[in-house]
Amino acid sequence: MSLTRLIFMYVLVPLILSGVVYSQKLARDEVAVLRAVAKVLQQKKWNFSVDPCDVASTVGGWRNPNAAKGFEDAVTCNCSSTMCHVTSIVLKAQNLNGSLPKEFAGLPFLQEIELSRNYLNGSIPPEWGVLPLVNVSVLGNRISGPIPKEIGNITTLTSLILELNQISGKLPQELGNLPNIQRILLSSNYLSGDIPSTFSKLTTLIDLRISDNQFTGTIPDFIQNWTNLEKLVIQASGLVGPIPNTISTLKKLTNLRISELSGPGSPFPPLQNMTSMKTLILRNCNLTGELPAYLGQITSLRLLDLSFNKLSGPIPVTYSTLSRVNIFLTSNMLSGEVPSWMVDNGDKIDLIYNNFTNDIRTAECQKKAVNMFSSTNPLVANSYSNVSCLSRYTCPKTFYGLHINCGGTELIINGTKYDADSSDRPIFYDSRNGWVSSNTGKFLDDERSPKGVTFCTNTSEIKFANPSLYTHARLSAISITYYALCLGQGSYTVNLHFAEIMFSDKETYSSLGRRFFDIYVQGKLEVKDFNIVDEEKGDGRAVVKSFPVMITDGKLEIRLFWAGKGTQATPVRGVYGALISAVSVDPNFVPPKEDSTGSGGGSSIVTLVVAVVALTVLFLVLIGSILWWRGCLKPKSQMEKDFKNLDIQISSFSLRQIKVATNNFDPANKIGEGGFGPVHKGTLTDGTVIAVKQLSSKSKQGNREFLNEIGMISALQHPHLVKLYGCCVDGDQLLLVYEYLENNSLARALFG
Ligand SMILES: *[C@@H]1O[C@H](CO)[C@@H](O)[C@H](O)[C@H]1NC(C)=O
Ligand SMILES: *[C@@H]1O[C@H](CO)[C@@H](O)[C@H](O)[C@H]1NC(C)=O
Ligand SMILES: *[C@@H]1O[C@H](CO)[C@@H](O)[C@H](O)[C@H]1NC(C)=O
Ligand SMILES: *[C@@H]1O[C@H](CO)[C@@H](O)[C@H](O)[C@H]1NC(C)=O
Ligand SMILES: *[C@@H]1O[C@H](CO)[C@@H](O)[C@H](O)[C@H]1NC(C)=O
Ligand SMILES: *[C@@H]1O[C@H](CO)[C@@H](O)[C@H](O)[C@H]1NC(C)=O
Ligand SMILES: *[C@@H]1O[C@H](CO)[C@@H](O)[C@H](O)[C@H]1NC(C)=O
Ligand SMILES: *[C@@H]1O[C@H](CO)[C@@H](O)[C@H](O)[C@H]1NC(C)=O
Ligand SMILES: *[C@@H]1O[C@H](CO)[C@@H](O)[C@H](O)[C@H]1NC(C)=O
Ligand SMILES: *[C@@H]1O[C@H](CO)[C@@H](O)[C@H](O)[C@H]1NC(C)=O
Ligand SMILES: *[C@@H]1O[C@H](CO)[C@@H](O)[C@H](O)[C@H]1NC(C)=O
Ligand SMILES: *[C@@H]1O[C@H](CO)[C@@H](O)[C@H](O)[C@H]1NC(C)=O
Repeated sequence: MSLTRLIFMYVLVPLILSGVVYSQKLARDEVAVLRAVAKVLQQKKWNFSVDPCDVASTVGGWRNPNAAKGFEDAVTCNCSSTMCHVTSIVLKAQNLNGSLPKEFAGLPFLQEIELSRNYLNGSIPPEWGVLPLVNVSVLGNRISGPIPKEIGNITTLTSLILELNQISGKLPQELGNLPNIQRILLSSNYLSGDIPSTFSKLTTLIDLRISDNQFTGTIPDFIQNWTNLEKLVIQASGLVGPIPNTISTLKKLTNLRISELSGPGSPFPPLQNMTSMKTLILRNCNLTGELPAYLGQITSLRLLDLSFNKLSGPIPVTYSTLSRVNIFLTSNMLSGEVPSWMVDNGDKIDLIYNNFTNDIRTAECQKKAVNMFSSTNPLVANSYSNVSCLSRYTCPKTFYGLHINCGGTELIINGTKYDADSSDRPIFYDSRNGWVSSNTGKFLDDERSPKGVTFCTNTSEIKFANPSLYTHARLSAISITYYALCLGQGSYTVNLHFAEIMFSDKETYSSLGRRFFDIYVQGKLEVKDFNIVDEEKGDGRAVVKSFPVMITDGKLEIRLFWAGKGTQATPVRGVYGALISAVSVDPNFVPPKEDSTGSGGGSSIVTLVVAVVALTVLFLVLIGSILWWRGCLKPKSQMEKDFKNLDIQISSFSLRQIKVATNNFDPANKIGEGGFGPVHKGTLTDGTVIAVKQLSSKSKQGNREFLNEIGMISALQHPHLVKLYGCCVDGDQLLLVYEYLENNSLARALFG
C-alpha cells in the first residue's frame, strides 16, 4: 500500500468522519481500518453511517440479530473504557469473495476472526501474529500459501481452524509454542512434511484434526503428552502407522478417528483406559489380531468402526453390552458365530466380508433384509459366499442388464427402465430385480437436513442430457456395494453415472467441496481417488465411467469406497463420502428374448419352438391314434360319411392320387416309420412334395369332433409347424398328407 493511501486510510478518513457523520464511539483509527478491511474482504453490507459499536441504537451496530445459525454476521466491540474497540468480527457464509485482510492487524483488541464458509482467497497474513487473538476460523475458503510462523506468537490463541482450504507447506515448528491452544483443525488442506517435534509441548490440546492432507512420517510417540485430548482425527492424513502404544495415556479421549493408515500390520492399540470413548474409528489401519474384550466395558461407546482391517477371531462375549452401538466390522477376517444380540440389531451393525459361520449368517441376513431370502432354492454362490446374505439369494429370473436410478425412483429413459433405489435402509436393500445393495457407514458430525440420509436430491436445473437420472444420487459414508446376482453369461459394459449435485453452486463456498472415492468393479480397484468435478470438464456435465466385464457366474459387484479423502464440512458438516447417480450395465451381445415361463437360459426361442412342435406332434399323434382306434369300431361308410359332411378347409385326397404320388407306396420313398405306421415321400401331379403318413388299418373310426380338429390344424400357419395338407379316408385306410420338409425337420416333427 502506498504512503499516500496509508495516510488517507489511517489519518484523513477518520478525521473526515469524526464528529461529522455520527457521535464517535469506535476508536477513529479502527473505523478507518474497518473500511480497508471491508474493501479487501469485498464486504459491502457494512454501513459506515452507523457506529459499528452502537448496539443500543435503533440500527443496533453492525450485526444481524436475525441471522440463521451458521450465517452469523456481527462486529462486536468492547466499550468498557471511554473508547470502543473491535474485539470480534464474525462473517459466516456471507459469500465474500475478497482476500484475507492483513489490515486486521490495525485492530489491536481483536480477539476473534470468524470468516467460515466464504469464498475468500489469499494467504494467512503474518501480520495477524501481533494480535491478541483467541479464536481464528477461516474454514471453507480458498486460502492458499503456508501457515505463517508468526501465528506461533499468539500466546492467547485457543482455537485455530483452517480446515477446508488450499493451505500448503509444512507446519511451522513455532506452532508448538502456543501455550493456550485447545483446538487445531487443519483437515482438508495440502499440508505436507512431518508433525514438528515441538508439538510435543501442546499439552493443552483438546481437539486436533489433521485429516485429508499430505503429511509424511509416522504418528509421533509424543502424542502421549496431549493428555487433555478429547478428540483426535487422523483420516487419510498421509501419516503412516502403526498407532503408537503411547496413545494409551490419552484417557480423556471421547472421539478417536484414525483411518487409511498404511504401514506394517499391528495389533489393536491399548485403549483400556479411555473409558469415556463415544466414537471409535480405526478403519483401514492394517490392524491384526483379535478384537479386544475390554471394548465391551466402555459403556459410553456409541459408534465403533473397525472395518477394513485384518482382525480375526471371534466377537468377544463382552460385546453384548454394546447393543446400542453402531458397529461396523465390515471386511475383516472375523470368525465364529455372530452372537444373537448382533443379529437382533442388524440395522445398526454391518458384518459383511468376514468369515463367520454359515448358520448364523442366514439368521443375520433374515434380520437385515426382510423377505429377502427364500428358505428353499438357495443359490450356490462360490466366490461370494463370504458376503453374508448373498449365498442364499434366489434369482427371480435371468437378467441381461442392470439399470438402477441410484437414490431415486423408477424411471424410463430411452425405453430402458431404471429400477428405483430410494430405500434408506442402512445396510441391505433388495430390489427384487436381481440385485441387492449394501450401504455401510454413518455420516458423522452430520449437520445436513435431514440428518443421516444416504441419498441426496438437487432440484436446481440440471442442463445436461437425462437430467432426471441425475437429480437424485445415492450416498455412502464408508462403502456402498451394488451386487447383481442373476446376469446371463457374456460380456457386458458397466457404465457408472456421476454428477456432483452437492457442490454445484458456482463461486460460493459450496463449490469448494472436494469429494474423492475409490471405484471397485468385480473386487478390482479400477479408479483411485475418483473426483467427479475433476472429470466433468468445467460445465457441470455428467460423468460416465465405463468398464468392460465378463460375467460367468451371474454375478457383478460394483463397490464405491470412501477412503477418508476430501472435504467433510461444506456446504455443511456431514457432506462427504461416495456419491453415484445411476448404474447401467448393458450386454455386448444380443440377449435372448424374455422367456415367459421364467425358466431362464439363453435358448428361450429354441425352447419355445421345441415345445410348440412337441405339443403339436403329440396332438397329431393323439388325433391319429383316436381316429385309428375309432375307425375300427365304426363302419367305414360312417367314417367316410362323417368326413364328407365336414365343413372343413382341408383337401380330401383319393387313395389313387396318393398311390400315384408315392409310386404305390414304393419302399424307396419310405422316409420313416412312426409308432402308428410308415411315412412315405411323394409328389403330387402339380409338383407339390408331400409326406404321407399311413395310419394302421386297425385304426378306429373317426368322428366329427376329431375330423374337425384335423381341419383346425390344417388352418394353422406357423413356420415351425408342419402343415397338414389333407387326408385320405378310404375304407379302413386313413392317410394324412403333410407338407414335406427337408433336413430332418419332418422326421423331428412326425416322430419326435
Ligand atoms: C445506513 O444507515 C443509515 C442510518 O441509519 C440509513 O439512513 C441508510 O439507509 C443506511 N444505508 C444502507 C445502505 O442501508
Ligand atoms: C473489555 O476491556 C477491558 C479493558 O480494556 C477488559 O478489562 C474487559 O475484560 C474487556 N471485556 C471483554 C468482554 O472482553
Ligand atoms: C464478488 O461478488 C460480487 C457479487 O457478490 C460480484 O459482483 C463481484 O464481481 C465478485 N468479485 C470477484 C472478484 O469475483
Ligand atoms: C472463542 O470461541 C469459543 C468457542 O466458540 C467461545 O466460547 C469463546 O467465547 C470465544 N472467545 C472469544 C474471545 O471470541
Ligand atoms: C483472489 O481472487 C480474485 C478473483 O476472485 C483475483 O482477482 C485475485 O487476484 C485473487 N487474489 C489472490 C491473492 O489470490
Ligand atoms: C513473532 O514471530 C517471529 C517469527 O516466529 C519472531 O521472529 C518474532 O520475534 C515474534 N515476535 C514477537 C513479538 O514475539
Ligand atoms: C512431551 O514429550 C516429550 C517426548 O515424548 C518428553 O520428553 C516431554 O517431557 C514431554 N513434555 C511434557 C510437558 O509432557
Ligand atoms: C490404565 O490405567 C491404569 C491405572 O492408571 C494403569 O495401571 C494401566 O497401566 C493403564 N493401562 C494402559 C494400557 O495404559
Ligand atoms: C499391512 O501389513 C502388512 C504386514 O506388515 C504389509 O505387508 C502390508 O503392506 C500392510 N498394508 C498396508 C496397506 O500398508
Ligand atoms: C474361515 O474360517 C474357517 C473355519 O471356520 C477357517 O478354516 C478358514 O481358514 C477361515 N478363512 C479365513 C480366510 O480366515
Ligand atoms: C471372500 O471372498 C473374496 C472373493 O472371492 C476372496 O477374495 C476373499 O479371500 C474371501 N475372504 C475371506 C475372508 O474368505
Ligand atoms: C438417451 O438418448 C439421448 C439422445 O439420444 C442420449 O443423449 C442419452 O445419452 C441417452 N441416455 C442414456 C442413459 O443412454
